[in-house]
Amino acid sequence: MKLNVVVIGSGGREDALCWKLAQSPLLNKLFALPGNPGTMRFAENIDLNITDFNEITNFCIKNKIDLVVVGPEVPLVNGLADHLLNLRIKVFGPTKSAAEIEGSKVFAKYLMKKYDIPTASYETFNWNQGNEVIQYLQTVSYPTVIKVDGLAAGKGVTICNDYDSACKLIDQVFLGKLFGEAGNKIVIEEFLTGEEVSIFVLTDGEKYILLNPAQDYKKVYDGDRGKNTGGMGSYSFSSILDENKINEIKKSIVEPTLIGLKSEGRKYSGCLYCGLIETEDSFKVIEFNCRFGDPETQVVLQTLESDLLQIMYEIAFGELKSFDIVNRGAAICLVLASDGYPDAFEKGFEIFDLDEVEKFPNVRIFHAGTTIHGNKLITNGGRVLSITAYSMDKNYSELIEIVYKAADKVHFKNKYFRTDIGIRGISKFKFNQ
Ligand code: AMP
Ligand code: GLY
Repeated sequence: MKLNVVVIGSGGREDALCWKLAQSPLLNKLFALPGNPGTMRFAENIDLNITDFNEITNFCIKNKIDLVVVGPEVPLVNGLADHLLNLRIKVFGPTKSAAEIEGSKVFAKYLMKKYDIPTASYETFNWNQGNEVIQYLQTVSYPTVIKVDGLAAGKGVTICNDYDSACKLIDQVFLGKLFGEAGNKIVIEEFLTGEEVSIFVLTDGEKYILLNPAQDYKKVYDGDRGKNTGGMGSYSFSSILDENKINEIKKSIVEPTLIGLKSEGRKYSGCLYCGLIETEDSFKVIEFNCRFGDPETQVVLQTLESDLLQIMYEIAFGELKSFDIVNRGAAICLVLASDGYPDAFEKGFEIFDLDEVEKFPNVRIFHAGTTIHGNKLITNGGRVLSITAYSMDKNYSELIEIVYKAADKVHFKNKYFRTDIGIRGISKFKFNQ
């Protein structure tokens, strides 16, 4: 059996997915729709509009595609998987109703409450309940967390430090339509403190496996200061969580979530991303995503030795069978961004000396916001490149040194990166082989 596979998307996550899938002995031909200059190393890039589902299905039929792997959340929440399945095209990624676990925070909270999945306590409100919200905000303790219901490109969560800023935000969301329709409903929830961890659950809806835990750095500045971004770096290795903690997460979060989704008629298939926080009492869910995380994928897949395509194929064809997956080593990812991100930034600058980076052993580059003009590679986004380092035997602090040395070699105007990626991992966790 040899498979023709499509990866949908154009970020660092999709470049890492293509890199991993390209190693599979099951692969015949790999396409990236639309991909980026990085995915061209592993796949044929097809420049089509991924918001047009007919364009995608026509391509799949014409090219005898056996499996479609969907990277980003927007097409899943808009029903791409349903569209493909209706035409009998296999897909790794949940249907529209299951993807609502990311597409609607109100639904995610409802599910967690109903199935006793630990999460922050909360209330939900509709846009026409402005007065009730203002009254409620007088009763909560601060900081408090306000989340818009719908997709907001990672910007829909605000931590409000006092009553006045919370009221101001409510005005902006309900009256000013700051997040458009995504802000028609909101969740106001308890502020939790603790260490965050990202868990990828690969599941057919009943059976599941967990990949290595990862941590990402969401804030733009060193010391976790400044605005939230898509992620400025990440690391992954198995001993971030010991076996007891993994078992707790499986029993109290993963299993009831899968059972809950199935019971609600929304059986989940694909990668369920659990964003968790370890509070003093227990692990609690901060968010669910209906896809792999970025930049966690860039590190988690490097510590996965098993064949990802085999696992995805089994899931897309209805039954996960590969349970004995092998995870090993440690990986770190440093995001090189355009200065100004996540606000306005300039792009269109030439990127120099990538080949120098590739000379470092066990260093890999994944592309995100890059494009090719003529024969030049230029910046084309907020997050430009993911520089990663992987180690089977070196210690974790050396990995940090290597990734920073490698990242130093690459040059483009307005290059920005955090200087403390990975350090939290060294201080908090023991890295054992
Ligand atoms: P999200 O977009 O849901 O990933 O949220 C972005 C970030 O906001 C999370 O990674 C957390 O750091 C923070 N956050 C979200 N919900 C809470 C909460 N209830 N308590 C504390 N921090 C939170
Ligand atoms: N790294 C967080 C996310 O992908 O949502």
